[in-house]
Amino acid sequence: MPISFDTKSRTFKLDTPNTSYIIEVIDGDYIVHRYYGAKIPDCDLSYMHYDRNPGSFFPNSPETNISLATQQLEYPTHGIGDFRTSALMIRGADGTATTDIRYTSHKICKGKPRLSGLPSTYADENEADTLEITAVDKHTGAEVTLVYTAFANHDAITRSVRVKNTSDKVLELERVFSMALDLPGHDYDFIHLWGHWAKERTPERSPLHHGKQSVESVRVSSSHDHNPFVALVSPEATEEAGDAYGINFVYSGNFLMEAEVDVFGGTRLITGINPTDFTWRLGKGEEFTAPEAVMVYSNKGIGEMSRIFHRLYTNNLCRKEWKGKKRPILINNWEGTYFDFDDEKLISIAKDAKELGLEMLVLDDGWFGENRNDDTQGLGDWFVNEKKIRCGMKELARQIHALGLKFGLWFEPEMISPISKLYDAHPDWCLHVKGRKCSPSRNQYVLDYSRADVRDYIIDCMSSLIEEAELEYIKWDFNRNMTELGSALLPPENQKELTHRYVLGLYDVMERLLAKYPNLLIEGCSGGGGRFDAGILYYAPQIWTSDDTDAIERIDIQYGTSYVYPASAMSAHLSASPNHQTQRSTSFKTRGIVAMGGNFGYELDLNKLTPDEREAVKSQVADYNKYQKLVQEGDLYRLVSPYKNRMYSAWSYVAADKSEALLTFAVMRREIYDRYYFIKLAGLAPDKYYLSSEDGKVYSGALLMNAGVNLAKRDYTDGDSLIIHFTEVK
Ligand code: GLA
Repeated sequence: MPISFDTKSRTFKLDTPNTSYIIEVIDGDYIVHRYYGAKIPDCDLSYMHYDRNPGSFFPNSPETNISLATQQLEYPTHGIGDFRTSALMIRGADGTATTDIRYTSHKICKGKPRLSGLPSTYADENEADTLEITAVDKHTGAEVTLVYTAFANHDAITRSVRVKNTSDKVLELERVFSMALDLPGHDYDFIHLWGHWAKERTPERSPLHHGKQSVESVRVSSSHDHNPFVALVSPEATEEAGDAYGINFVYSGNFLMEAEVDVFGGTRLITGINPTDFTWRLGKGEEFTAPEAVMVYSNKGIGEMSRIFHRLYTNNLCRKEWKGKKRPILINNWEGTYFDFDDEKLISIAKDAKELGLEMLVLDDGWFGENRNDDTQGLGDWFVNEKKIRCGMKELARQIHALGLKFGLWFEPEMISPISKLYDAHPDWCLHVKGRKCSPSRNQYVLDYSRADVRDYIIDCMSSLIEEAELEYIKWDFNRNMTELGSALLPPENQKELTHRYVLGLYDVMERLLAKYPNLLIEGCSGGGGRFDAGILYYAPQIWTSDDTDAIERIDIQYGTSYVYPASAMSAHLSASPNHQTQRSTSFKTRGIVAMGGNFGYELDLNKLTPDEREAVKSQVADYNKYQKLVQEGDLYRLVSPYKNRMYSAWSYVAADKSEALLTFAVMRREIYDRYYFIKLAGLAPDKYYLSSEDGKVYSGALLMNAGVNLAKRDYTDGDSLIIHFTEVK
């Protein structure tokens, strides 16, 4: 039973295989945090109480001698003497915002209830326990439920919060975070993933300092800028050792993740919807649910933290229909043709795709609207452009299916071009502020997904195409962020709900489409990886990692992405050389090897391949089919960081039973004098023996991990790469 309650000490203990998380209800019915870290036995933690008041300027709570400023609080609230960032701030009908919640009851149940209207991890009765602690602010009548799920097979605990208005007046939630974690001490490094278009999820690590350190988005998207992920790791933590707390937010809109080191040296980490542009009005009897935050802890380093996220997301976030299922190897026409294609061209690409062993054709941007020959128009007009697809979509799909390929289409369902029939008919359907001009971005505006009529329209358009073309897949793109936040339908007092209502609207559309078409594979996308988050991943089990398809730069991007997200989440394509984003030339082999680190596909004009390249595709497809399970379900070990070593990088995937491993080695820039390319593997069984596909020799696991694989036996060129498969020899 992962969650228990000790009535005498009023202590909750949440256990996962290797971690414990402890909460206590203390005098005054305050809910305090006691411990989060490596697993400990059930024990008396009263010695951890801190009752000393630091003196002036630190008010006591009204009924006790305790100053909340020196307590580790489970869910700190605003205005009652804890001057750190609060997780909850409710403005009552009297205009004041003091919020004071006290424990009233709790319940523990098996499994994990769904979060209403929101994506989240899931678990059945044998996989997790859930604790719900209810606390009440008597003054406002707000009933707050703190929800915790502890997983039986993963060192992960999820958090969420519900706030119910039991009064008959309106309450305004000005901030309602999903989690707070008060850690004793501040000897941690803060790791986050920053980026921009074509350079997503770059890991950055810096020591915590007094005051606040944060990442956020106010773009109404998780964004290219900062992924909703933060890790606090001990300063000495490496891939293989040290403490690592990782927090990931299962949300695709505005977020704030902040670590605050207070003047007493404690650290508070909070995660939730960004209070900027957010206030939620809660009417009588209404309830608000804050999105889920996932907490992972490992004392075996940053690598193990990532592997816990990978296993959790592979098994308990990915849609059941796609769990453990190989995704089709696809050919996407975008970098092959851009907007310049017709039905004949697509069929000739499809024929090549079939001959080469690929499994799906994805028709990207440009198939719809009156004249979508560039990005200036047509978004919202989801009807086929018969000047390009002269045979019609149904017939094109029929021919592709007849070849034995699956078929997928690109949509940008949240957008509207000012030059479109849809905009002519419904100029008020986009986000806008009456009397102000909209700021265009990529010549487009954003549809108001807080509106039910807009969402219904989009579902109808997409449904008819899914049915007409019997689509197996859609690429769901999102190519701008939001400005002029305003909805034509919301009354003024509710306009500050728009940012969250938009995201709920997006989830509603995805949920309803998938309820109608459960086997549809959605690939998320946002100008590459601009909305690569666990919220999208719940609906779209794979996400286009970046518009940067340069194999060498992709090593960095995929490496950073792997801090949180599994290989099965990352779409990766082999594209043309010289690369369209960087003009760098890279061998066909390396482009394939790097792309095989995710959901493999091609994005170039297959008709232009040379005979040698065609043969290479066939053998890449065979390799991918052979290694895909190991890559996507095995344990990832990041062996040489491309950020630390700008010459080469290495990573490996190890099967859960340690019977095989796949090493990938990629040379970004050769160093001709380097005689010591010894790559130490990790995660193997030291007492097992492994056959190397490189030289046919057998090596002990201990040797491969401690002395390493000798890769100095050959000369490398810039951009060279290799994979070596190690299989157990009994
Ligand atoms: C975005 C996507 C690309 C492609 C284009 C089409 O940039 O990231 O992969 O689909 O849109 O316009």
